Amino acid sequence: EKGGHRHFMAKEIAEQPTVLGDALAHYLRGDGIELPAPGLDFADFDRVVMVACGTANYACVVAKYWFEQIAGLTVEVDIASEFRYREPPIPPRTLALFVSQSGETADTLAALRYCEGKASRIASVINVTESSIARESDLVLPIRAGAEIGVASTKAFTCQLTVLFLLALKAAADRSRLEEGELEEHLEAMRRLPGLMNFALAQSTEVAAVAKAVSEARDVLFLGRGSMFPLALEGALKLKEISYIHAEGYASGELKHGPIALVDKTVPVIVMAPTDGLFDKTVSNMQEVMARGGKVLLITDPEGARAAGEGCWKTLIMPEVPGALAPILYALPAQLLAYHAAVAKGTDVDQPRNLAKSVTVE
Ligand code: F6R
Repeated sequence: EKGGHRHFMAKEIAEQPTVLGDALAHYLRGDGIELPAPGLDFADFDRVVMVACGTANYACVVAKYWFEQIAGLTVEVDIASEFRYREPPIPPRTLALFVSQSGETADTLAALRYCEGKASRIASVINVTESSIARESDLVLPIRAGAEIGVASTKAFTCQLTVLFLLALKAAADRSRLEEGELEEHLEAMRRLPGLMNFALAQSTEVAAVAKAVSEARDVLFLGRGSMFPLALEGALKLKEISYIHAEGYASGELKHGPIALVDKTVPVIVMAPTDGLFDKTVSNMQEVMARGGKVLLITDPEGARAAGEGCWKTLIMPEVPGALAPILYALPAQLLAYHAAVAKGTDVDQPRNLAKSVTVE
């Protein structure tokens, strides 16, 4: 049942090119997007509020960058356990969007119920479509990841991102924000993702070697800028939940506002930086870390490694990927790093202590 893998998590990481390819085959028809979203028109909304917990919340934070940049739409993201008790006003023309792998997370369900009768429309991005959150939504967008058994979410995260990206493109189209040929370019890039993911997975051995060294650390920092910032949060969450190593994710620009005080030669600092418009800024933050003796693991593309790899403790090279899609691809080295660090520490990868796959209590 683990398909020859040692853990469900390893199987689910390895499955990503296939499940993502299948999801795309399902949602991309000819040269357009076909989401099961009858009557959904983003011209009807001024605002989207996205609510979720944990990894699903980080998928929402990535999506915020996409919706703002590609569709020019205001997005607020909240964690369900805060949102539901805060009594946030829901103005008219708001789409409320809930993201959940299990569809049973108690706080996310309660946040959905709070929006009933307030938001213009309630949609959910769900893996388990026979679930409470799916049942109570006006509109369900299945991520089609297949059963996810490992407690740490992996393929559900990249499939959530995929559906959210398609939704951002639909929002851009509905709001006439796309230039001639832009949609085709994005879709073409999406279709290349499964292949790029295979390249990323092929580096599992290199990642395992780095992870072995990381597994000896007491604290680890993850840094990213732009849509790689939520990836830094996700990388840190994945590492702490299965290897029990203390890890924090920060926006690179926040480093000098506090966390740089933690940096010394015992703290690996994992910098996730594809060469995009923000690359130079991230590299200058990375150099601040190195100037303080920090051990930098740079995860970048070949061009980034050429430009900034010198002096780094280690470098992991991902294939080049169009900027907007980098968070989906870079999720893989983050997952592999956590997985191999946990294996090196001998923890129970699929059933980490104190955690449940579906959090149905508040
Ligand atoms: C982390 C993880 C959790 C879940 C969170 C939400 O690896 O799996 O943080 O993402 O408990 O669960 P769902 O998506 O089922 O609502």
